[in-house]
Amino acid sequence: MTLGNSLLSFTVIISLTVPIFVISVRVGPYSIDPACEKYDPRNLRSDQMTVIINGYSEHRIPLIQSIAAAYSASPSIATVILLWCNNSTPPQTLSSFAQNLSATILRPPSSSLNHRFYPWEIIKTRAVLISDDDIEPNQKSISFAFTAWKSNPDRITGFFARSHAYDVQSKSWIYTMEKEKYSIILTKFMILDRTHLETYTCDQRYSQTRHIVEEMNNCEDILMNFVVAENVNKGPLLVEAKGGVRDYGDARNDDELGLSKVGLSSRRGEHRKRRGECITEFHRLLGRMPLKYSYGMVVDSVGEQGLCEKGGKLVPCDQQIF
Ligand SMILES: *[C@@H]1O[C@H](CO)[C@@H](O)[C@H](O)[C@H]1NC(C)=O
Ligand SMILES: *[C@@H]1O[C@H](CO)[C@@H](O)[C@H](O)[C@H]1NC(C)=O
Repeated sequence: MTLGNSLLSFTVIISLTVPIFVISVRVGPYSIDPACEKYDPRNLRSDQMTVIINGYSEHRIPLIQSIAAAYSASPSIATVILLWCNNSTPPQTLSSFAQNLSATILRPPSSSLNHRFYPWEIIKTRAVLISDDDIEPNQKSISFAFTAWKSNPDRITGFFARSHAYDVQSKSWIYTMEKEKYSIILTKFMILDRTHLETYTCDQRYSQTRHIVEEMNNCEDILMNFVVAENVNKGPLLVEAKGGVRDYGDARNDDELGLSKVGLSSRRGEHRKRRGECITEFHRLLGRMPLKYSYGMVVDSVGEQGLCEKGGKLVPCDQQIF
């Protein structure tokens, strides 16, 4: 299946908070996928990011409204896009949702998780922030992460990291969390260059692995870490959130909000096993293991300049060798 064919048309609902109105536009059909024509980076702005939040559960609508409002109030954010992936949600539900939403709603043509990385034409910034619908960072964390990304613009930057490892006994790759190192940044909160979205979506090298993401309905974030590591030959960058991020998908927050645990990425043990299977499968299909370990973490400190922790010591980030 090519993504181009599946994108014959999609509906865009644009909502602006002041004044409140909703426009519905039908786009397409396209003969070739326009997003795969290289976007001239000179036409992209560098001073702000576009946020793409993935939404699915209707019971989370109030939370998404609050998260979108927080993002749109941030000086680091140019545009907030809500990618609504529940195809069964009636249009009326979404339009009334849109009335109190500081975001543009996009309805992709299928619920494929690959759409999270689709280089939508409305992305006019170089930096793209991909986020789950249950993560609410405060203003300071958003701008801090953005600053860290700006000094490492080719890498994936984010607050939540995991790791790959090889299990000699089962002769397969596993998905894990290690104290010292990491190789995968999660889509709970991930900043990356728009170019990587084009590579992920359009490059033939990844067509089979994109197909695995659809089959498993999982692992799009792992695949993106493969794509970026392979193309820039560097591991990702972990930024310390220091309590500046509320993770409503985290069981510890459930009581507070009375929200349930239905998250795209919160089913634990089985989840970890499936993620290991994805790594093994991506490795098999690509015939190589591009994931790279990183060891440092950018920690917030006094002043503008980010400091990185390395071997228990703090050093300016640009002096850090991963
Ligand atoms: C998806 O939309 C349908 C139709 O409105 C709804 O019944 C279902 O609960 C939604 N799924 C979730 C997880 O909210
Ligand atoms: C609109 O959304 C904001 C931000 O989450 C919330 O505080 C407010 O109560 C909502 N208003 C209505 C009428 O739903």
